[in-house]
Amino acid sequence: MAVLAPAGPMAQAIADIGWAMFIGGALITLLVMGLLWRAVRGPAQSVRPTRWIIGAGIVFPVIVLTALMVWSQWHARVVMAEAPPDALVIMVTGHKWWWEVRYRHPDGGTDIALANEIRVPVGRTAWLGLNSADVIHSVWLPQLAGKMDTVPGRVNRLVFRVDRAGVYRGQCAEFCGEQHARMGLHLVAMEPAAYARWLRGQSQDARPPATDLQQRGRAAFLAQRCSACHTVRGVAAQGRLAPDLTHVASRVALGAGVLPNGPLALKEWMTHTQVLKPGAYMPSYGQLDAQTLDAIAAWLGSLE
Ligand code: CUA
Repeated sequence: MAVLAPAGPMAQAIADIGWAMFIGGALITLLVMGLLWRAVRGPAQSVRPTRWIIGAGIVFPVIVLTALMVWSQWHARVVMAEAPPDALVIMVTGHKWWWEVRYRHPDGGTDIALANEIRVPVGRTAWLGLNSADVIHSVWLPQLAGKMDTVPGRVNRLVFRVDRAGVYRGQCAEFCGEQHARMGLHLVAMEPAAYARWLRGQSQDARPPATDLQQRGRAAFLAQRCSACHTVRGVAAQGRLAPDLTHVASRVALGAGVLPNGPLALKEWMTHTQVLKPGAYMPSYGQLDAQTLDAIAAWLGSLE
């Protein structure tokens, strides 16, 4: 249960409050059940009804609820706090059914765009600006922060920090259509030096084909008009409807968490899109002959 294994201070605060509410609620339930049992089975009581009503119906809840409210507000201040000025700004846009993730280019060039994957350095606060291209989605990274909706036409914020390097699973948490359940997200928390190297790599255009096969793959990608929807920076492919593939081979998963990434997975995804994710806007390219498919997969698989 990821929710019960927080990996940063914001998720820790939410987990603490959750546990306090759960344990407090359980104790009060036991108390009420005990009193009920006594009232039904125990010796006759001489407490007057008005005392019961005032004591158990007004005084007790006011004290308990006020204490819980003050404590949870105080404890949640870390979740509600403004991000520090040096927070890492990442824009996340929900689409049916994938996540577009954008970073500012370190040299001021075109944004670095990822899909279904957010990378952050450990120990640095991240500020996510959340938007939607179509319907309401919700970003949920259970080990890092609470849920936050992505709403068309506005930017919601989600602030969190990760303290342990690792890969954390996220999920769309607002029903958004038939593939809502396959709208996964990975958050990769890296050591700062590794993160800097990664960002430097992502800021580059796609690497040129290194073999004949990759060369043919790039040509086939363009000939099949994959570029109408997908961007590959450095190649004549600037579609904005679908995930940016400039560094697709460096990602953890394909299809918003549907398949672990790899050369076979690329082929599987291209030929069986509508089997793996029925209703997704990408058609299955099952009509491609084996050579063309191998070539495209070899080229995409080289884009680290
Ligand atoms: Cu997007 Cu549910």
